[in-house]
Amino acid sequence: MKTSAGAVTLAAPGILRAQSPNSTVHIGWIGVGSRGYYLMDRLYTGSAANIQVTAVCDTYTGNLARAKDRVQTMGHNTPKTYADYLELLQDPEIDAVVISTPEHLHYPMFMAALKANKNIYVEKPLAHTIEQGEEMLKAAEKSGKVIQVGTQNRSNSLYQQAREMVEQGMIGEVHYVRAFWYRNSLDDNPAWRYKIPDDASPRNTDWSKFLGPAPKMEFDPHRYYQWRLYWDYSGGISTDLLVHQTDISNFVCGKVVPTSCMASGGIYRWTGSADDRDVPDTLSAIYEYPDKFHINYSCYFGNDHYGYGENFMGNEGTIEVLNRQILNYYPEKFGNKPPAKVAARKELHVELPGNDNKAVEAHMKNWVDAMQGKAKVIAPPSVGQQAAISGHMATLSLRNNKKVIWDDKAREYHFV
Ligand SMILES: NC(=O)c1ccc[n+]([C@@H]2O[C@H](COP(=O)([O-])OP(=O)(O)OC[C@H]3O[C@@H](n4cnc5c(N)ncnc54)[C@H](O)[C@@H]3O)[C@@H](O)[C@H]2O)c1
Repeated sequence: MKTSAGAVTLAAPGILRAQSPNSTVHIGWIGVGSRGYYLMDRLYTGSAANIQVTAVCDTYTGNLARAKDRVQTMGHNTPKTYADYLELLQDPEIDAVVISTPEHLHYPMFMAALKANKNIYVEKPLAHTIEQGEEMLKAAEKSGKVIQVGTQNRSNSLYQQAREMVEQGMIGEVHYVRAFWYRNSLDDNPAWRYKIPDDASPRNTDWSKFLGPAPKMEFDPHRYYQWRLYWDYSGGISTDLLVHQTDISNFVCGKVVPTSCMASGGIYRWTGSADDRDVPDTLSAIYEYPDKFHINYSCYFGNDHYGYGENFMGNEGTIEVLNRQILNYYPEKFGNKPPAKVAARKELHVELPGNDNKAVEAHMKNWVDAMQGKAKVIAPPSVGQQAAISGHMATLSLRNNKKVIWDDKAREYHFV
C-alpha cells in the first residue's frame, strides 16, 4: 500500500496492514462481466480519489479488454491483465480484490485471496453452499481482513430509513414481511438467457478455469455465459435474487436468520424444447424465524406487473420499499377508528430514482473507508452468510421437496 506521501508500507503475512485515511487502496479485480464492469463504474464514481485498479482478471478476453479500457478511461492508468486469478493474487502491490465471478467460484477465490492476505469485496451470494460459507466465515474471522459482501441494499438510504421507522415503532410490532420479485420478457428473450458474445469460443474463453470445482464437461457457451440457469454454478432465484430480500428484511426488522423454510416452484414459463435450464422461473418460499417472524417470498418470471419490493407489515402500519427507489408508509386505519397514537401518524411517500446506483456506490465506498480505518463494513461475511443461508434453504427445500430446518447453534441444517 502506498501512502499519498509516497511511503510504502509492507504487509507482514497475517497482520493487518497499517492503514491510513489517505492511503491509496490498490485493487485487483477478478471477474469483469456484467456486474464487475458496473461495479467498477460505481467504485470510480464514489471512491476514485482513494483507489487504483492495479490489475484485472477474466477468463473471457472480450471482457478483460473492455475492463482494461474502463480502467484506462476512468482511472487513467493501465492495469496488469490476467486470465489466472492465482497469478493476480501473487502481486504484492495489490491490497484488496473484488470477486465478481459466478457463484460457484466465490469459495475458491475468496479462500485463496485470504491466503494471499488481501482485503475482499465479494459479490453475493457469499458461496454456492452453506458449508462453503461456513468455512469462509471462519477463515475471514481469523484473518482480520476487511471484507464486504455485495448485498448493497444495506447501503440504500430508503432501507436505512425503513429500519429507523421500524425502530421508532411507526408500524408497531412486525411479525410479517411479504417480499417479491416479478419479471417478464418476450418469448424470444427468455429469462437469464443473456446474449452470448458473437466471438465466444474455447480460444478466447478459458472453459476449464470457469468450471473450477464444478463437474467437468465439454465447452458449452450457454453454461459459461448463462451460468445462472444451471445448478452446477448457481442456486437460481434463491441465491441470485431472494438473498437480497431476506437480507434486507433481516436488516429492516432486526432479524438474523430463519429457523425453517418451505419452498416450492418449478419451470413454468421458459419451457421451450431447446431450453435446458435447471433452475425454476417460479418460486415461493415461506420462512419462519425464532421469535414469531415470518417472510412470505414469491418470484415469477412470467409477469412483472407488481415488480420488485418488500412490504413490512406491522400491526399499526405498513412500510413498503419498491424497486429500491420508492418508500411508502401507511398507518393502519382500524376501520377509521385508529388509536390516537396511530391516528397522529401521517402517510409518507418518497421516490429517489436511481437509488440502487447510489446504494452500490455507497456500499463500495463503505468498504474503501473501512480499509482506510474510517468506517466499519456494513455487510461483513457473517451478514453475507446469513443472507446466503436463507437462499440455500430455499434451494434445498425445493430440490428435496421437504421443509428445511436451520439449527443456528449447531450451524447446520436438516430436513423434516
Ligand atoms: N449485488 C447485485 O445486485 C448483483 C447483481 C448482479 C450480479 N451479482 C453477482 O455478481 C457475480 C457475477 O455476476 P455477473 O452477472 O457479472 O456474471 P457474468 O457472467 O456477466 O460475469 C462473470 C465474469 O466472470 C468471468 N469468469 C468466469 N470464470 C472466471 C475465472 N475462473 N476467473 C476469472 N474470471 C472468470 C466471466 O468471463 C465473466 O466476465 C455473481 O455472484 C452475481 O450473483 C450481484
